[in-house]
Parts: sequence; C-alpha cells; structure tokens
Amino acid sequence: MAKTTKMFKLVLVILVCSISLNLVFVFKMVNVLGGGDHHYFLELSWTKRAAAEAEYVAAISCSGHGRAYMDGLILDQDGNKEPVCECNACYGGPRCSQFLPSCAADANGGDPYFLEPFWMENAASSGVLVAGWHRMGYSFNFQPFMVMSKELESHIRELHALVGNAVTEGKYIVFGVGSTQLLNAAVHALSPQNSSSPARVVASFPYYPLSKQQTEYFNAVDYKFEGDASLWKNKSDAATMNLIELVTSPNNPDGQLKWAQLQGPNVKAIYDRVYYWPHFTAISAPADEDIMLFSISKLTGHAGTRFGWAVVKDESVFKRMSTYVLLNTQGVSRESQLRALQLIKVVLEEGGKPIFDFGYTTMSSRWEKLNETLSLSRRFTLQKIGAKYCNFLHKIRGPSPAYAWLKCEREEAKDCYAILKAANIIGRSGSLFGAEDRYVRLSLVKTQDDFDQLLHQVKKLISDEGSAKAI
Ligand SMILES: Cc1ncc(COP(=O)(O)O)c(C=O)c1O
Repeated sequence: MAKTTKMFKLVLVILVCSISLNLVFVFKMVNVLGGGDHHYFLELSWTKRAAAEAEYVAAISCSGHGRAYMDGLILDQDGNKEPVCECNACYGGPRCSQFLPSCAADANGGDPYFLEPFWMENAASSGVLVAGWHRMGYSFNFQPFMVMSKELESHIRELHALVGNAVTEGKYIVFGVGSTQLLNAAVHALSPQNSSSPARVVASFPYYPLSKQQTEYFNAVDYKFEGDASLWKNKSDAATMNLIELVTSPNNPDGQLKWAQLQGPNVKAIYDRVYYWPHFTAISAPADEDIMLFSISKLTGHAGTRFGWAVVKDESVFKRMSTYVLLNTQGVSRESQLRALQLIKVVLEEGGKPIFDFGYTTMSSRWEKLNETLSLSRRFTLQKIGAKYCNFLHKIRGPSPAYAWLKCEREEAKDCYAILKAANIIGRSGSLFGAEDRYVRLSLVKTQDDFDQLLHQVKKLISDEGSAKAI
C-alpha cells in the first residue's frame, strides 16, 4: 500500500513538473512576435541587435517631412555617428522642420512615395530581417538556373487572382530587375534571331519614353525603334515585317487604357501593365495578353527594390526571356525577392482592402484637387478620364491616374514646360513622350509634400492668370 502511495506521489510530481514546464513554455508563447497570421514561439536571440538598430533609426523624428535610413548619411559629431534625416523636397534643417517657401514644385519623377504612409502604418507586418547567411548561392535549392522563389511566384499568382487584373493560369512567370529589365527581355525574345531584317519596335503616342530610350541605347542588330505605331497601320509592307508594339495600359503619361493598334501574322505586342492596379484605374476585367509586365514599384511603391515580373503565355518566349535575365543579371537579388514576398503578403491581407483603399483614396483625392484647381483656368487643361465600375472595389469609381497630362491651350504656348518652369513648377516635356511640347506630364505619385507644393504653385499660377485678366 505504502509503495503504491509513493508511486502515486512520484507520478504526481512528474505530472506537476511537466505541467509547470508547459506553462512556462506557454508564457513564452504569449510573448510572441506577431506577424500576419503567424505566431512564432521563440524568444528573440540573434535578431535583437538588428531589430533594435532598425527601431532606433525608425524612431528618429524628421518632423513628418523626411525619414532616416539605416544606410543613410552619417553625421560625425564628437566621434558619434548618427543617421540623419533625408528631407522631402522643400523642407530642410537637421529635422526637416524648416519649410523652404521659394522652393519649386518638382513634379518630374515617378517615385511612388504616395504609399510611404501606408508602410509606416504597417511597419510591424512589412519589415523583413535578412539573416547573414540568407540564400548566399547563385541558385535556389542548389538547382542550376533556379533563380526564382517559388513561394513568391505563387503569391504573385494569388495576388492577380485576388485583384482580378490578370489571368495567370496556364501561363509562365519570369522575374526581372524591375519591369525595366523585362521590357528589353521581352523585345529581345520577340525579335527574330539571325534574320537579315530587324524587328521594328513601335508604340502609339504619347508613349512611355523608356521603350524608345532602351531600344535605341542597346542598339541591337535584331530590333530597332521605329516610332509611332499608328504610322504602320496602313503601310502595305507592314504585313510582311516583324513588328513589336509596346502598349502601356494604363498609359504613362496620360493614364488612358490602351490596346494594340496593329494586327497581323507578324505583329506581336508587349503589354506594360505596371499601372493596372486599383490605385490608378478601375479593374474592369482580368488582362489576358500574351506578354504582360508588372512591377512592385507601382504596386507597393517600392521602386528601389527593383523587382518586376512578366506573365507570359508562350513557352518559347518564356524561355528566351528567362535566358536573357539569367545572362544579364543571374536573376533578381534574393534579398529583393524576400522583401517582395513580405510586401505582397501584406498586400494580400484582408483581401487587399487596406492597401488598395489607401492607394485609391490618396490618388483620387490628389486628382480631384488638381482637376478642381485647373478647372478655373482657360490656359491649361487636363486629360479626361471617366468614372468606371471597378470589379475589385465593387463600385463606380472616379479617376486616380499616376500622372496629370497637362496641356497649354493657348496657340502661342508651344513650350508648356518653360511656361510652368517660370511659375516654379517642374514637369516633364511632352516631346519626351513623342507628343507636342504643349503637353507636360506632372507626377502625382510622389510624397504628400511634393503634391501639396505642386497644388500650391498651380493655384498661384491660376490666380496670377486671373489677376492678369482683371488688369
Ligand atoms: C509604364 C512604366 N513601365 C515601367 C516602369 C519601370 O518600372 P520598374 O521600376 O519596374 O523598372 C515605369 C516606371 O515609371 C513605367 O512608368
């Protein structure tokens, strides 16, 4: 009997110890790192320094008009190295608190900082920490020429299915160092090899300038830039020539949805779809072209990550594009792929609602404000974009283009860029897009500070127009 009691006590002690250990473990579990749907049951060890450093730099206040980066400029004061604030345009001082009133509104570039506040708001879910040994080799899983993360590819397919902006089923995906690399990879893949006559690369006006610049710069023997697509519409020799039409839809600079102008047995089209997201346009149907280019730059705003992808129907085109990327850069940096994966995971959260609501609301409000201001003017007009039903947002939505395509209406106003420059507004001349110089592109995707300054200078220009009339 005494032996049984002893035995019972021993079992009880073991049981209590086991429960206590489990409880300790559970308490550690409670001290979790949240992230998306996952919970990690580990206490931090080697990541502590990196995490602390990241949070330290992120906490540096730049007065809401700049930000400090871990690899940013360093101020060396009394032997202390400190990251400094990099200020938005028109702001200065060590903490970016000083507004520079006579500053010009720079609406030239396409840096998509309009999404920066979203990522600051979603800092916890979007950050990635790269281990010192993260994917050090040239390929994934030691498989030669495997340069793409399968996980990222499947998330991209999931994303297109969610947004409904592209058909990816039964199609191939190629990653590139931005869609910039893929644009040329696609031109190369569609050009005839060893032919005496190069493929003619065309685009309808106004077109995204890189198409022309890249094609001319690479000066390849198998393709050549030939200008306006519409000029080839009724040419009799067009039927026998290899033509590659670059179609940017929605278009940069004017935000219009475009379709290929040319048809025929030797005509191929490359669709640049980098702006086909709810931030910029209504999603009316999934795009289903043979070659479609997308980019993280315009989806999440991370142009610096240099990550884009092509959705390709034809296997031989896919293989030629993949070889191009392989020979050119050995694929895309694995750090970029890791970051793109995390960003896309955040985009997918709550069915994409948070980021696309934010993107659309921001862009449409900028468009409305600029449109309203310019509607008071007789000298300047903007492109017309109608309201449309969006299958993703489930509503009829107004325009929210990435760029304003401004026209100087007066007969004598042939150099619109110069007119705006004189009014402290820097845009991009129409001729760069193959259009007349009475057009100027104004970027709406930059920081809120950039946009506010643009609106301020445009208002001033319009009110000066009003006073001139009064005189
Ligand atoms: C129409 C178009 N295609 C491609 C790109 C380049 O994108 P990425 O950053 O992916 O190279 C841009 C950038 O502004 C663009 O406007």
